Amino acid sequence: MTDHQQPPEPPLWEQWAAEGASADPEERSDGERLQKVLAQTGYGSRRVCEELIAAGRVRVNGEVAVLGSRIDAENDLVEVDGRPVPVRSGLVYYLLNKPAGVVSTAKDTHDRPTVVDLVPTEPRVYPVGRLDAETEGLIILTNDGELTNRLTHPKYGVEKEYLATVEPTPVYPRAMRTLRDGVELDDGVTSPAKVSQPEPGLLRITIHEGRNRQVRRMCETVGHPVQRLVRVRIGPISDRRLRPGEWRPLDPGEVRQLIDATPSEVISPDVPKRGNLTSRSSRPR
Ligand code: URA
Repeated sequence: MTDHQQPPEPPLWEQWAAEGASADPEERSDGERLQKVLAQTGYGSRRVCEELIAAGRVRVNGEVAVLGSRIDAENDLVEVDGRPVPVRSGLVYYLLNKPAGVVSTAKDTHDRPTVVDLVPTEPRVYPVGRLDAETEGLIILTNDGELTNRLTHPKYGVEKEYLATVEPTPVYPRAMRTLRDGVELDDGVTSPAKVSQPEPGLLRITIHEGRNRQVRRMCETVGHPVQRLVRVRIGPISDRRLRPGEWRPLDPGEVRQLIDATPSEVISPDVPKRGNLTSRSSRPR
């Protein structure tokens, strides 16, 4: 075949389109598809995520996203219904059933075992909030500082549920009422709590504050010191099968439920307002 028999080259715009089509559409250099990233973080199928985007419920760097948006998962701030979604890679979330005698700081000054010793060492994670050394039960460890902040800040009021074995038994209605309505502690009156007594001397107490030794001090103040304290729920997360000392990763759906447990009205004080969706923003961390 001679040169002049070569088929004419397609116009440049067609060549570009062909190049784009031949590459893996999810691996293009201008970021990943927003619905794919959202689906990986537990927001449901890609279809469901497309519907979220189409409904205008998703923002990227403060701007309402549109179908077809691509993001830089490492740097862009993605929010659904005003709540940040953890899209960065390398974020881990563990649920640990802390045994008694283990401290919930990252390092103990008295060299006692810590909750961090009970989960994988890499990547480095930190406990979300504290349990007293003698308190047992559920604690989350993560390297996601944003979620840690939301779960521990009192303004988000995430519920924590405890089973407290107290003495003497039973706890009479008057003390139950005080526990529910508010107990006067040295750092102020406690907020209303849910309190029931499934069996004499066993109290199920749900609070949404996180004051130091709060449950122990509440019970002590009404004349029923705690003999044993176990946290059985953090917001929507509970797990009766996790044995003391065992941990498991939270699944993406559970992480999403945790985020959803923190109200959206009180957040996004510093949503960056930058460029358009396809631009690479550099979100300070
Ligand atoms: N309240 C307490 O008194 N102790 C804990 O560890 C947690 C809540």
